[in-house]
Amino acid sequence: MAAAGCASLNPMQDRPRRLRRTPAIRRMVQEVHLSPADFIHPIFVHEGAEVSEIRTMPGVQRHTYASAVEQAQQAHALGIPAVILFGIPDHKDAEGSQAYAEEGVIQQATRAVKAAVPDIAVIADTCLCEYTDHGHCGHLVQDGTQWTVDNDPSLELLARTAVSQAEAGADIIAPSAMMDGQIAAIRAALDAAGYSQLPIMSYAVKYASAYYGPFREAAGSAPSVGDRATYQMNPAGGYREALHEARLDVQEGADFLMVKPALAYLDVLRLLRDEFDLPLVAYNVSGEYSLVKAAALAGYMDERRTVLETLSAMKRAGADTILTYHALDAARWLKEGQ
Ligand code: PBG
Ligand code: ZN
Repeated sequence: MAAAGCASLNPMQDRPRRLRRTPAIRRMVQEVHLSPADFIHPIFVHEGAEVSEIRTMPGVQRHTYASAVEQAQQAHALGIPAVILFGIPDHKDAEGSQAYAEEGVIQQATRAVKAAVPDIAVIADTCLCEYTDHGHCGHLVQDGTQWTVDNDPSLELLARTAVSQAEAGADIIAPSAMMDGQIAAIRAALDAAGYSQLPIMSYAVKYASAYYGPFREAAGSAPSVGDRATYQMNPAGGYREALHEARLDVQEGADFLMVKPALAYLDVLRLLRDEFDLPLVAYNVSGEYSLVKAAALAGYMDERRTVLETLSAMKRAGADTILTYHALDAARWLKEGQ
């Protein structure tokens, strides 16, 4: 390497364009390589008898058990190692009881997918907001004039949910409720139930983001009162809070860390990559998906190029795996491009 201050005599000696001259050379020196193995494919499953379109997420559906299995088969055939299941129950109540019901929608979907595609990893999203009638991620109580989620009683419900997902055959438990102490509570409950080998993928750094809007329409999980700002992180928060949340989850026993959303928080991904040595997940959330989809449908942008560029940026920022609604498309494009 040339010593600093020892610049070449001829300023035109260093020509970076030499390495961009042909597709083959560009591929040789490319630093970031995406592969289907980088993706997690999300699947919404409901109890309805028909597949239903999601208005806010063109190209994404609420699946039946049978079509969820087909989704998992497609993902597996494309080389995608994991799916994450989101359950949308017919019946919602104050305590989110369908989240931890033995015949609950995510439990049945997990069993169906594992029976048909045993080699794919099934990740269970562990939260209550899809199952509660108020749409919050835990036990709702009145605090003076405002409603809030009571932390510690919610831990019990989340732990029950995780154990019932484990009993249904989930390979990875992914708690997304942002309750304090949820990783420790779930780890203890899993261990006590004989699941000490089941990893926890913690939604460790999760912001109270407008980018979840399309998901909430999909899952019918928009809060009926208040918002999630007392438990999800302030998008204007800084690096100390992100480090604090991630450190707590590491101490509590998380096996993966996640940053969510991804695109507006690539700097936070990089921060966690540099500070921790656990596998890091980027969640390319619903609103990030829908922005690209809407622009592509309007003819404003090239979908394939935009998606692959965005996913590459997440990998460059430090993600080991990317949870993305583009997973099947991106995997197909990568295969075609080979
Ligand atoms: C449940 C959960 C949410 C998302 C994933 N798990 C919704 C939320 O927190 O409101 C959002 C994912 C997305 O927008 O794609 N807590
Ligand atoms: Zn939730």
